[in-house]
Amino acid sequence: MTSLEGKVAIIGAKSILGHALQREFPKASLFDTEASEDSAIVPIDLTNPRNINEALQNFGIDGFIINAAAYNNVDGAEKTGFTDSHKLNVLGPENLAQWMKVTRSHVVHLSRAYVFDGTKGQPYTEEDVPRPVNTYGGHKLEGERHLLCLEQPSNSLAVVMRTDDMYGPQGRDGLDALITQIRSGNALTVINDQIRSPTLTTTLARVVREFVELWNIYEELGGQIYHATSQDGCSRAEFAQATAELLNVPANISPVTTADYNDLFRRGKVTARRPRDVRLSTEKLANLGIETPKWRKDLRNYLQSPQDAGK
Ligand SMILES: NC(=O)c1ccc[n+]([C@@H]2O[C@H](COP(=O)([O-])OP(=O)(O)OC[C@H]3O[C@@H](n4cnc5c(N)ncnc54)[C@H](OP(=O)(O)O)[C@@H]3O)[C@@H](O)[C@H]2O)c1
Repeated sequence: MTSLEGKVAIIGAKSILGHALQREFPKASLFDTEASEDSAIVPIDLTNPRNINEALQNFGIDGFIINAAAYNNVDGAEKTGFTDSHKLNVLGPENLAQWMKVTRSHVVHLSRAYVFDGTKGQPYTEEDVPRPVNTYGGHKLEGERHLLCLEQPSNSLAVVMRTDDMYGPQGRDGLDALITQIRSGNALTVINDQIRSPTLTTTLARVVREFVELWNIYEELGGQIYHATSQDGCSRAEFAQATAELLNVPANISPVTTADYNDLFRRGKVTARRPRDVRLSTEKLANLGIETPKWRKDLRNYLQSPQDAGK
């Protein structure tokens, strides 16, 4: 197998996924908005093409760039105009696509199940037609299309990896807050009519590594979309209930519909429409021998040993 040594770069190295990716690719070149104190992380601004050229020039060409940088505030993306969501989720991938075409670098670009409208009633495959119901999903879809070079797909050396709600050892995600709430014994109101695939960052990072190792051998795996989430799917209420059970803490959980939740907690706020059921089929990756566990198994392992789960 050709070595990946010196050939992997992670943009968004400080993202919750980026931390897990660093563990899978310990020798990767790291990029994020700000340099780290030890200079291991080099600053980059994906929204600025000249800055991308400067930051990546020493990384060399013909490598594998994993792009985990994004704007992920779904409600915040509903603002109109030239928003952070547009800049980072559309313009960023467009700029990266230019770099990809010039340098013939491979790009793994992370996207989200929110590109679908959630009405299918069963897991979406990579062939299903995306139909976003909110601005964030629309921006993520536009970003995908830039990297897949839809006007001339043979130009694309990218893969789009779509995933769903993430949690992991880096915190900064909803699970930490959920655990605090459960332990506090406070009543918890949680949405029960949106089906998601909670995905452990360390599992996803392992999937990305296994994929890049294969892609390093089989060039034809590029220019495609892959779905990478946990299996089975659940509502946020089910996830909260399972978390409490696995922690062995009695929880006072009230499941409510999205409409009731918005009425109770989001009145007067800009709220993006959410797709109902965006489970993704991961069969395409499984056919390459890359498997993901059921969400409950990963959650159990994570709650038992956050640093070791997903390996
Ligand atoms: N989180 C989820 O539940 C979820 C679900 C499905 C898909 N995804 C996708 O998975 C990927 C990783 O998500 P994540 O949640 O791990 O991300 P995250 O924790 O929200 O981090 C985003 C990263 O992007 C960086 N960034 C911001 N502006 C930038 C710029 N102009 N240039 C370069 N980097 C910039 C941020 O740096 P600063 O912190 O310095 O701003 C941060 O490190 C994204 O593509 C996301 O859309 C996430």
